[in-house]
Parts: sequence; C-alpha cells; structure tokens
Amino acid sequence: MKIGFIGAGKMAEAIMAGLIEKAFARADGIVASDISEERLAELSRRLGIRITLDNAEVVRQVQVVFLAVKPQQLDQVLREIAPHLTADHLVVSIAAGKTTTHIESLLPAGRVVRVMPNIACLVGEGMNVFTRGVRAPVKDTELVKTLLNCCGRALELPEAQFDAVTALSGSGPAFFAYLLDRLVDGAVREGLSRQDALVLAEQTMQGTARMLQVTGMEPAALASAVTSAKGTTAAGRDILETETMAAVLDRTIGAAAQRSRELGRA
Ligand SMILES: NC(=O)c1ccc[n+]([C@@H]2O[C@H](COP(=O)([O-])OP(=O)(O)OC[C@H]3O[C@@H](n4cnc5c(N)ncnc54)[C@H](OP(=O)(O)O)[C@@H]3O)[C@@H](O)[C@H]2O)c1
Repeated sequence: MKIGFIGAGKMAEAIMAGLIEKAFARADGIVASDISEERLAELSRRLGIRITLDNAEVVRQVQVVFLAVKPQQLDQVLREIAPHLTADHLVVSIAAGKTTTHIESLLPAGRVVRVMPNIACLVGEGMNVFTRGVRAPVKDTELVKTLLNCCGRALELPEAQFDAVTALSGSGPAFFAYLLDRLVDGAVREGLSRQDALVLAEQTMQGTARMLQVTGMEPAALASAVTSAKGTTAAGRDILETETMAAVLDRTIGAAAQRSRELGRA
C-alpha cells in the first residue's frame, strides 16, 4: 500500500519513521510533499522516501493520504487537493482542532479519519487517538489503528473528546518535560550534576508511568503507597500538593483544550 504525507514536518517524520521501522511500509512506498525543498531533501536522505513539491501529486500516487500541515494551513491544502480525491482515498488528518465534519465539508470525495498523535511517535512510544468521519467505514479505522500501532499506542475515542485529548496527550509531552525540568533544577541546587539529575528524573518518570500501567493503580494510590508519615516524600508533597498547584495544572489542560476549540473554528 502506498502512503502519502502532505506537510513533511516533525510529526510526519515521526510517523513515517515508525511505518518504515516496523516494516508496515517500504520507504519507496511513501511519498511526501512540503513547501520546503530543503526539508524534503533532508527527509529523502534520512528515510529514503520519495518526495515532491506538488501536493496534488501525492494524492494521485497513493491511497492513504496523511494531512500533516499546521491547522492554520489545512483549509488551503484541502481546497488544493479536493479536485484530485476520489472515494478510493482515505484521508488521515492529524491537524489539531480541525473536525472531520469540517474536513469533509471541503472534500467532495474521500473517507476521513482524524488522529491526534503525539511527538513520542519519534521513539515508537506515541499516544495516538483516532476517530472516523461519517464516510469512513470501520475497516478504515482498523487500518489506521494498525498503522498508528507502528508508532506507539492507538486508541479510538469519540470526536467530542478530541479537545481534551489534544490537551492531555497531544500537548502533554511539553507539560511533562516542563515538570521534569523544574525537578531537575531542584536536584542540581541540592548538589547533583545536570547530567546525572536528568538520568535519575527520566528513569523515575518512565518507571512511574510503567508501574501505573502494569499494576493498574490510581496515581493517588501510588503516591500514598510511597509516602510514609514524616518521611522525605511527605515533606516534598506538603509543598507540591497545594490548591494553587492543582489549580495551575487544571488551568493548563483547560487552556490547551480551549486553544484546540479555537483552532477548530479558525
Ligand atoms: N508536533 C506535535 O507535537 C504535534 C502533536 C499533535 C498534533 N500535531 C499536529 O500535527 C500537524 C503537524 O505538526 P508539526 O509539529 O509536524 O508541524 P511542522 O513541523 O510545522 O510541519 C508542517 C510542515 O508542513 C509544511 N507546509 C506548510 N504549508 C504547506 C503547504 N501548503 N503544503 C505542504 N506543506 C506545507 C511546513 O512548512 P513551513 O514550516 O515552511 O511552513 C512544515 O514543514 C499540526 O496540524 C499539529 O496540530 C503536532
């Protein structure tokens, strides 16, 4: 099966790399377009994919087309490719905020599946959520799921939940990275080198996530299980777990979800 990417940025590269690494697609079965010739040449060198500056050419060559441009660029791309799409095309949009109804309204033909990926696809640990438009049969979501599984985990959810999904898993790597950075700064002030502190913090974040996955424990239960009265963890939690901190994290997700709603309307 030939797979195309319109927009060859960070997310497109992460997904392409996963498809090639897991042997779902051959590099010469992938074709990507972008407005930057330099970016395309770089990707061709790194991944061995085929490239073109012509978005319509991608549509003419493949059956599955990923739309991987920024949300603000999506409508222009949809208008450009609309005349070249047929009912045989599966269009997979990863643009934040843009609904399947909106995409279908600009495409007279083509089945649409919407995906919210995250950047950890680059290391095969992405969290990818998908939903199908009215023209796409269940077998399209099965294909998209198989394809996304090459880059991490994939989960189907109702489109009404996509703003929350965008806020939590789409934007989440930046939020978790920020928290890790602050904790590392604290450990450096307490005497660790930044390099060592990063190793400790990264493994602790990964181990915590893995433990929650394996045991099925609630995060609050895990926190209680490692906190003894008057111990070191309790001393840290007394500072961390304030109403202000809870409100800040709540508003962080709220602001990202609100921006996703705005992008959908833009
Ligand atoms: N990055 C993430 O963590 C993440 C997470 C979840 C979802 N997403 C979604 O994934 C999509 C892509 O994000 P990204 O981070 O990969 O962005 P990106 O790195 O900026 O990639 C978009 C690429 O599309 C190119 N482009 C712009 N206009 C085009 C056109 N008319 N035709 C063809 N190519 C065009 C851009 O070129 P220029 O740079 O020259 O404009 C750029 O190379 C976005 O819609 C975003 O909402 C991203």
